[in-house]
Amino acid sequence: MNPVKVGLLGLGTVGGGTFNVLRRNASEITRRAGRGIQVAHAAAREYDPATLESTDGVKITDDAFAVVNDPDIDIVVELIGGYEPARELVLTAIANGKHVVTANKALIALHGNEIFQAASDKGVMVAFEAAVAGGIPIIKAIREGLSANHIEWVAGIINGTGNFILTEMRDKGRDFADVLAEAQALGYAEADPTFDVEGVDAAHKLTILASIAFGVPLQFDKAYTEGISRITREDVSYAEQFGYRIKHLGITRKTGKGIELRVHPTLIPEKRLIANVDGVMNAVLVQGDAVGPTLYYGAGAGAEPTASAVVADIVDVVRALTSDPENRVPHLAFQPDAMSDLPILPMDEVETAYYLRMQAIDEPGVLADVTRILGDASISIEAILQKEPAPGASDVPVILLTQRTREAQMNMAIEKIEALDAITGKVTRIRLEELGR
Ligand code: HSE
Repeated sequence: MNPVKVGLLGLGTVGGGTFNVLRRNASEITRRAGRGIQVAHAAAREYDPATLESTDGVKITDDAFAVVNDPDIDIVVELIGGYEPARELVLTAIANGKHVVTANKALIALHGNEIFQAASDKGVMVAFEAAVAGGIPIIKAIREGLSANHIEWVAGIINGTGNFILTEMRDKGRDFADVLAEAQALGYAEADPTFDVEGVDAAHKLTILASIAFGVPLQFDKAYTEGISRITREDVSYAEQFGYRIKHLGITRKTGKGIELRVHPTLIPEKRLIANVDGVMNAVLVQGDAVGPTLYYGAGAGAEPTASAVVADIVDVVRALTSDPENRVPHLAFQPDAMSDLPILPMDEVETAYYLRMQAIDEPGVLADVTRILGDASISIEAILQKEPAPGASDVPVILLTQRTREAQMNMAIEKIEALDAITGKVTRIRLEELGR
């Protein structure tokens, strides 16, 4: 049988990795797919031939539209990233009747609903395993492996750059800006590093996870996003003194009122496996009603780990080429006519526990005032810690852990605490999740 012809958009880190894995593991991949898979046409504005296995027999162009309009191509693999022209290229490929594989989380999170509708109308597949957590097959695990379950919640370390920064701050006591500069130099960070540190990249990935976990449309615009740039070394250290680690988590949970969709720094118990995922590694914890907690760990970025997911998608598409489009795995795990309209909850409605840190003048009655405000707001205190003043300072750090409460309640309480004369400056608030059942 003739090989399946692939058109590759991008020969950068992930494109080059995909090209090389397809070449190096060609015979093993063919044994799995049942057909040979040949990169026949590739587009790249610039690339380094020295990083690629032999490009013999591959047409290489700088015009990505020449690839998506090439009648010989069966599967377009989009690895250029960003919103445009990726969206137009993917929609053109679909209109031309080609299947699409993409690693583009931003594209799927923002334009996935439109892209999947176009693909369904045309009877073609769009596969996007590499868009979330790089080489970890988390899309397949949730969409197929856990399809018996009511998924209750998903919590993940889904941005390697942010995790690297927090790990270095904890292990080496380094400052945020210093570690970020190193992450950029190592090539982990997004082209715009604010996407990593402000949580946008994680929110793209979480939006996708929420859709396949709960069968709701992709709604990136409703995700709550808070980055790690305000986390200090002191917070990392105080959290440890309470037995917690600070991780930048994407959390999505189904509640009776709606779906939580939030990315923010989070204290989690140090005894949880996911609390020990360090450096650039990713991990996703999925709680299903039947299976219980399941944890998926691996490289969330990098050339060949991401290529591993891209190539697995290509193999899946090849295996399903002759299948009836009606009987394929639905793009968002649930049948398109069975999607839920459960709303995404505004952050004010989310319930979580909290770590609060404040600077208090060291005088009688201050803690009583703070605890009274929390008590009046029906917020229970779990633990409290007062530290020594810094040399020469008249105020002391006070750290509190609270039980779960609604975010709106906590916002009101924080406003009142900050208004106390004896509290200097702002209250630092970090959400806390036990990640138990
Ligand atoms: N910038 C991303 C990260 C790359 O650090 O995880 C993978 O999506």
